[in-house]
Amino acid sequence: MLLNFWPMNDSMLPHSDSAGTEAAADYAELAGVYKACGDALRLEILRVLERNAYGVLELCSIFDVKQSAMSHHLKVLAKARMVEAQREGNSIFYRRPILAGDDSAELARLQLYSNLDLLPLTTDTRDRIGNVGEQRAQQSQAFFSRYAEHFQAHQELIAEYPLYATPVRDMLQQQLAGEKVNRLLEIGPGEGAFLEDLSQMADSVIALDNSEEMLQKARDFADARQLSNVRFIVGDTRSALEQSVSVDVIVMNMVLHHVASPADMIRDCAALLRPGGMLILSDLSRHDQSWARESCGDLWLGFDSTEISRWGAQSGLAEGESIYIGVRNGFQIQVRQFLLPKNGNRALTGEAACQSEGSATSTHPSHCNL
Ligand SMILES: C[S@@+](CC[C@H](N)C(=O)[O-])C[C@H]1O[C@@H](n2cnc3c(N)ncnc32)[C@H](O)[C@@H]1O
Repeated sequence: MLLNFWPMNDSMLPHSDSAGTEAAADYAELAGVYKACGDALRLEILRVLERNAYGVLELCSIFDVKQSAMSHHLKVLAKARMVEAQREGNSIFYRRPILAGDDSAELARLQLYSNLDLLPLTTDTRDRIGNVGEQRAQQSQAFFSRYAEHFQAHQELIAEYPLYATPVRDMLQQQLAGEKVNRLLEIGPGEGAFLEDLSQMADSVIALDNSEEMLQKARDFADARQLSNVRFIVGDTRSALEQSVSVDVIVMNMVLHHVASPADMIRDCAALLRPGGMLILSDLSRHDQSWARESCGDLWLGFDSTEISRWGAQSGLAEGESIYIGVRNGFQIQVRQFLLPKNGNRALTGEAACQSEGSATSTHPSHCNL
């Protein structure tokens, strides 16, 4: 056999220009994504992270694996940017990153997530996730049972009540334009201070709180003010759904950072709303003041506005007005409005548009009216 040994010229050599280098990096990144996902357990971990962030030990208990093995899997997934670490005080939680989908690796990640989300969780995994959620909820409930008597002092360490209650009330009044709604639900009324305003805006109001002690305070407040159209339910949004509660408006002030799975709570809110209904929530923007976990029983150190947008969009809610309020002690409060479309279409709306968080108060107009 004859072999040709032609002299090599430049065009035969691999490209060394910058476009070529960039493309090579893109291929390498894409390969990294698929490589990291070439493992059944890692895929199941990603599946579990669909709606919630978990710590390493929580994931160990969900999958019954040793901490060293779980840490290794998370490291591989984090390197491929399939998960990201989120610091909550001394603890690290892992979650899916919010992706822009603007290059092939990002598109591959999004595609992998949506394929995974078509798969059901095993009954065992679902039960163990339920146990983790239960432990988180108990931790939060225990705090409010213990500190019900000193609630206000704890709350004011972060933000004084009028700071968020006033914009929430104004937003509600503006939307209702003097009309009363039929049914309104307040989740986590605490001592009940907002019930007085709410009872004037609706024919009937439900106050839902998973702490018996806090709900008793709200009951006492309503009795003292003779608020005759308020009824009380001990429990969470799951209990309300089980009792077939269906309302026009839901309000929750400073509750979301106390709940085991904020994404699930927003999804439950969407299910509790009648078509055309509205959810208004106020909560903290993401912060790093970890003392709030100990002193105020916070499970989460606030939220990125994009996270809340994503949970709303995943629940079929359209985004309305947002207000961001800077607090002198370094906290920022976000007041967010979401609307369930009138046709009751709870179809997923995909990733929500990201909103920038300003340090001062900022607003953008609502697109829908009640
Ligand atoms: C920080 S307090 C806010 C109270 C009141 N909204 C305010 O702004 O003054 C949080 C309240 O939410 C309640 N809560 C926490 N997790 C809850 C859940 N999963 N379901 C219902 N209520 C919850 C607590 O018991 C507490 O009353």
